[in-house]
Amino acid sequence: MTKAYPIETHEFDVVVVGAGGAGLRAALGAAQAGLRTACVTKVFPTRSHTVAAQGGISASLGNMGEDDWRWHMYDTVKGSDWLGDQDAIEYLCRNAPAAVYELEHWGTPFSRTEDGKIYQRAFGGMTRNFGEGSVQRTCAAADRTGHAMLHTLYGQCLRNDAEFFIEYFALDLIMHNGECKGVLALKMDDGTLHLFRSHQVVLATGGYGRAYFSATSAHTCTGDGNAMILRAGLPLQDMEFVQFHPTGIYGAGCLITEGVRGEGGYLVNSEGERFMERYAPSAKDLASRDVVSRAMTIEIREGRGVGADNDHIYLRLDHLDPEIIHNRLPGISESARIFAGVDVTKEPIPVIPTVHYNMGGIPTVYTGEVVTKKGRNPDHVVPGLMAAGEAACVSVHGANRLGSNSLIDLVVFGRAVGQRCGELVKPGTPHVELSADATDAAVARLDHFRNAKGGTPTAQMRLDMQKTMQAHCAVFRTEELMAEGVKKLDAIFSGMDDIKVTDRSLVWNTDLIETLEFDNLIRQAMTTAAGALNRKESRGAHAHEDYPDRDDKDWMKHTLAWVDDKGKVKLDDRPVHMKTLSQDVEVFPPKARVY
Ligand code: FUM
Repeated sequence: MTKAYPIETHEFDVVVVGAGGAGLRAALGAAQAGLRTACVTKVFPTRSHTVAAQGGISASLGNMGEDDWRWHMYDTVKGSDWLGDQDAIEYLCRNAPAAVYELEHWGTPFSRTEDGKIYQRAFGGMTRNFGEGSVQRTCAAADRTGHAMLHTLYGQCLRNDAEFFIEYFALDLIMHNGECKGVLALKMDDGTLHLFRSHQVVLATGGYGRAYFSATSAHTCTGDGNAMILRAGLPLQDMEFVQFHPTGIYGAGCLITEGVRGEGGYLVNSEGERFMERYAPSAKDLASRDVVSRAMTIEIREGRGVGADNDHIYLRLDHLDPEIIHNRLPGISESARIFAGVDVTKEPIPVIPTVHYNMGGIPTVYTGEVVTKKGRNPDHVVPGLMAAGEAACVSVHGANRLGSNSLIDLVVFGRAVGQRCGELVKPGTPHVELSADATDAAVARLDHFRNAKGGTPTAQMRLDMQKTMQAHCAVFRTEELMAEGVKKLDAIFSGMDDIKVTDRSLVWNTDLIETLEFDNLIRQAMTTAAGALNRKESRGAHAHEDYPDRDDKDWMKHTLAWVDDKGKVKLDDRPVHMKTLSQDVEVFPPKARVY
């Protein structure tokens, strides 16, 4: 097999897969630690999906009023609906200010207050003094914060000699006796194969939003790293928790930042009513995203949606000072004009809850090391393997992520990974010999899809999967609906025997790449649906209509999901970390979540 596909080998101390915020921050940290570091990415780094992040990055800087990282920690635990690991959440919130100041010092062009400090806006679920009222904690570069961060981080990586392999599509991990020894990738412009040997492989490959029909995620968000984990026989965690952002543009799916509501915008139904006052009397439009998305869905279901089909909601910001819109929300003004034909200074934006973020992913601990359940140990570290960002489930977001906690997750845990690589790897350590067949399975998979001669085009199978996920695993879920969804996904997976790829070349073969991405997506869709059907409670983004209450006694635990080659999903669980890292911080015990 490898004769037909010659492989070029590269040797590094650390290889990072993915060049979004987490990947770049991890690569930077490893390079700064003196390690020879490669970053392998399927898109040009500044086109990674982090570029689309709008509203900002949370950190308790206290620039707009008193703030405290412990309040941030409390909000994040509460936002997670008590499924987040509290040691990791402490790590996130404690280290957030330093991670943001680092970005500032490297040149991120944050918006500024009158006295020159980083500007911070209000975001959902962010409160002062353990839930008393809203706090402005989200640091912003207008509404293009992710764009500003990516450019800063890429520049710093180049400055520190991280080496980039751009438009290389990672195929699979190279595992040897339960340890990760590298990754095999396809160079998309000429079809050559490249084996990246490494002492630590860091998966920073983002989420899998494209398993759904309508998502704010880029078309590249296919969770390639998550699928590599499954093919390596390792589990994914908490995949049933999929976040719907309340304000995707109706019909187009593009994101309209929560920052609009942070700046004073609000949602109205067909009666012109500001309905969030009924659902969340205190936080109103700035309740957490799961709460707002459910409220919007109920308004639509009960006939108070707007538009010809009464099937969406309006977001109003026409009452805001045009100067604020111009300075702080220029990006969404442009998106609303282009994708909804709306002048936001005069008209409301038509919006609908849209898939935005995967709380689940690769189980890690706060150092970024990947863990699995082995015997009685739920935190067995997989040597040589790390993950960060949306691909990882560390788990700071638990059952629901707070807005602006994603960008901070990327840089805090990207930084932790870089530091941990510095502790674990001695620069220049030689690589062990691999067996001759180490890459065979990955190459065989590539060859199989390249020569697939069935009758069903990949695009058809992908659409079936996306529509199934959208209909059977959305904001509200029932036992019957989910069971039907699981069956449909099983049938789609089985139908892959009949998949059709028409282009057999190896040069920019998008037909083949999309097929490999679909193969990645379907496995994640299956773990999502199986985990959702299995969880007999409602928590965070998982709103199970047959089990409307949270059940801490039986379900305050993480789901682990494996998929075998035949598409059989196996489930298990792992305890939530109800412990903190430091003695001076106490665990927040579960209580009712009221906004
Ligand atoms: O609404 C937004 O700007 C998105 C932010 C986030 O998902 O963290």
